[in-house]
Amino acid sequence: DKAGYKHFMAKEIAEQPTVLADALTAYLAGDDINIPTESLDFTKIDRLTMVACGTAYYACLTAKYWFEKLARLPVEVDIASEFRYREPPILPGTVSLFVSQSGETADTLAALRYCRGKADRIVSVVNVETSSIARESDLALPIHAGVEIGVASTKAFTCQLNVLLLLAIKAAKVRGTMSADEVASLLDQLRGLPGHFNAALDRDQTIEKAAIRISEARDVLFLGRGMMYPLAYEGALKLKEISYIHAEAYASGELKHGPIALIDKTVPVIVMAPHDALFDKTVSNMQEVMARGGKVCLITDPAGAAEAGEDVWQMITMPAVDDRLAPLLYALPAQMLAYHAAVAKGTDVDQPRNLAKSVTVE
Ligand code: F6R
Repeated sequence: DKAGYKHFMAKEIAEQPTVLADALTAYLAGDDINIPTESLDFTKIDRLTMVACGTAYYACLTAKYWFEKLARLPVEVDIASEFRYREPPILPGTVSLFVSQSGETADTLAALRYCRGKADRIVSVVNVETSSIARESDLALPIHAGVEIGVASTKAFTCQLNVLLLLAIKAAKVRGTMSADEVASLLDQLRGLPGHFNAALDRDQTIEKAAIRISEARDVLFLGRGMMYPLAYEGALKLKEISYIHAEAYASGELKHGPIALIDKTVPVIVMAPHDALFDKTVSNMQEVMARGGKVCLITDPAGAAEAGEDVWQMITMPAVDDRLAPLLYALPAQMLAYHAAVAKGTDVDQPRNLAKSVTVE
């Protein structure tokens, strides 16, 4: 049931404020994060290895920033199809973490089985709680996204990010790298995020207008720095899988090491950059693009919009949020851009060609 929406993807994008609020209710009791310490004791862990495919892999890449920054925990992230055949050494003190919406992705399941008997603990972050990956884990943490039907993952991604952030905060708390006050303040901000998700959804017309222009391009670049770097990948994946527009993502700082050669007026550059400590560096990357006739679509906040100047081609302004929460919030405009570009191109949004919702074969 599409509940009045044209596509399941549109419905699932719009459900994000509600499912995030539900997930927060399920995981938070005051400042206590409901993840059983007896199943996962972060004081006894030396490192985390995270493995997944596709969108779930980009959620892991984002979470690496949180675990390292908040909990000072070393993290490795890998694509399941590479990890399983590389057969990497798993040292004592390792927790292996698998992220999967379906819980049935063949490569992720094989990677999990490889870690069995080697890692101290096998943890999964899943949407389908009865899935193989959930059943074969020592601890399976549900993301509470509800059923996701659109082949392009949307609400599962933000709900994966949410559980991974809660895990990182929990790790920071027990490892003593965040004070009780810092934890309380970050959780307060997180509780405010469903409201900001609604504000992001309210930008629909601006985003649709930008998406229609972008849908005319053959190639699109996505740029992000820091925690927005994995999200640039997710934005590019979403755009290519449903609109069939060729999209590539780069860390903003990599622009001058090659991809800048592609810039001309036919290649829109989508820059995801809240006004954080790295914003000035991103502004100078944007200037390099604009000086070569490139068209910049900037997704930022009010302070970023004020500083970016007049030459930006399309401006999408998000509410200001804590830097650490920006990857969750900025996922919405990335999804909405892809959605509207695909609708403008007339593609089959919920059933893109060649793709399956659950990849149970290699
Ligand atoms: C992209 C997408 C895929 C999946 C990937 C992993 O929109 O949906 O990239 O994220 O196939 O699937 P799960 O999470 O079920 O393991």
